[in-house]
Amino acid sequence: MNILGINAYHGNASAAIVCDGRLIAAVEEERFNRVKYAAGFPAAAIRYCLKEAGLTLADVDHVVVPRNPYARLGTKLLYAMRMPSFARERLKVLAKFTGIREALAAAFDVDPEKLKATFHRVEHHVAHLASAFYCSPFEEAALLSADGLGDFASSMWGAGFGPRIDVHGAIAFPHSLGLYYTAITQYLGFLKFGDEYKVMGLGAYGEPEFLEKFREIVRSNGTGFQLALQYFTHHRTGPEMSWAEADKTPVLGQLFSEELPKHLGPAREPEQAIEQRHKNLASSLQARLEEVYLGMLRQLAAETQMKSVCLAGGVAFNCVANGKILDTTLFENVYVHPAAGDAGLAVGAAFYVWHQVLRNRRSFVMEHAYWGPGFSVEETRQAIDAAKLTQGGCAIAQMGEETLLEQAAKIIGEGKILGWFQGRAEWGPRALGNRSIVADPRRPEMKEILNRRIKHREIFRPFAPSILAEATGEWFEKAHPSPFMTMAYSVRPEKRDKIPAPTHVDGTGRLQTVTKTANPRYWKLIKEIERQTGVPVVLNTSFNDNEPIVCKPQEAIDCFLRTQMDALVLGDFLITKS
Ligand SMILES: [Fe+2]
Repeated sequence: MNILGINAYHGNASAAIVCDGRLIAAVEEERFNRVKYAAGFPAAAIRYCLKEAGLTLADVDHVVVPRNPYARLGTKLLYAMRMPSFARERLKVLAKFTGIREALAAAFDVDPEKLKATFHRVEHHVAHLASAFYCSPFEEAALLSADGLGDFASSMWGAGFGPRIDVHGAIAFPHSLGLYYTAITQYLGFLKFGDEYKVMGLGAYGEPEFLEKFREIVRSNGTGFQLALQYFTHHRTGPEMSWAEADKTPVLGQLFSEELPKHLGPAREPEQAIEQRHKNLASSLQARLEEVYLGMLRQLAAETQMKSVCLAGGVAFNCVANGKILDTTLFENVYVHPAAGDAGLAVGAAFYVWHQVLRNRRSFVMEHAYWGPGFSVEETRQAIDAAKLTQGGCAIAQMGEETLLEQAAKIIGEGKILGWFQGRAEWGPRALGNRSIVADPRRPEMKEILNRRIKHREIFRPFAPSILAEATGEWFEKAHPSPFMTMAYSVRPEKRDKIPAPTHVDGTGRLQTVTKTANPRYWKLIKEIERQTGVPVVLNTSFNDNEPIVCKPQEAIDCFLRTQMDALVLGDFLITKS
């Protein structure tokens, strides 16, 4: 039984294939078309998933789309009557969705009538809940999805029992924690889609001076929250998003109203210097998000009496808030889907059909995130040959694993920057040791060097540590697994000066806990670093330079040559610049 999940015509377009209850492949379209957060129809992602599973379109039994245009139809119609532009936009989306069968057939050049698959729709947040629960190791768990907006809701919660998900409640448009965070992100002068991370990083430099004001902007109300709508525009205009185009990064219109500067002072222009006031605003934004998010989780724990919680939706990427769940709620176990954003909907929707629609038992746990394209030694060698690296003065050596790891750890220990490319690409936005750039965590200057030579990011944004899972409790104040880099924990005070490069200004690190089973070669690399330096940690940042994470060996080589990276491990090959 083969189920194809497709997140189309929405940010982070993606595809996933589940065969007999096991995930075989999952990937975002952006990795192929090289457009960050690409929307549109993910034809390349679908093609890859089918190839990885050894299937043709004719072998697919079910196709599922994580969107249900009929969800909350009454509320939608109400808004549509008040906002003609919104109604037009909705109709366009509806037209796209009713054409999924045709789009799929066209992408594969087959007659739509010949597709034998059954087509399903799963509501956006139900697919988020499913992505977290059905990939988790828990037989039963409380579930929460929180993001900007999907199918006219911004949050949904419930409980999962074996193959079943029960929805207990939802928060409908226009109230949204995701849109709240995005609106203030824009107000602080960060206008690009996906810039919320930057503001989360910035918050650590400030004090929550404006918390009282933010409590007024997002009000708690028993089961959830409400936005004070006078500070926003989306309830009047509809959230102005353009993401039907496959070749463009999504663009969001301004979400905050003129009331916000009236109460909080002038909005920051993108080029304007970041002052302490902006840092305090970012801190207050984050503090209020945590109050509401953790409050919802406390309520959910009380309501369900469950010990485990599964999280998805864009807000579930807030690793700072996630890192506080164990301290401030009754939950003892947390699972965050690695693609917690909308890419993950493809996986969630596919598993929803397998379990909830087709009533199959649980048989899968997502213990790692390596569900994307991988390349053979031969393909890697061809990419190296095609790049004519030796003519450019690079040295290339193919070596056995032990020598390779020893050399790689040595390069890192010398303070050089190493591209680290192996195995199948990561699912979700975090590089987790297969498409990573790695560096020495012991050197405080590493952050500045990485930014200057490769990443060109804002200096206030932290870099992340990957740590041997078994050493976590020795270096961090919590040892709960964070395999997908979705939690930030405090580094033990006595260890902070030992790993200054990936320790943020507030003493936390957004860690990846690495196990030998999830990623044997990356685990062995960190083990070798520990042998050479005494520190079981490596600084890990994604393999890219203001572009989607590299996918193919050619892209890794291009990024290596384009930037001032010192060396590159490409599978079994070590490439060094002379
Ligand atoms: Fe979403």
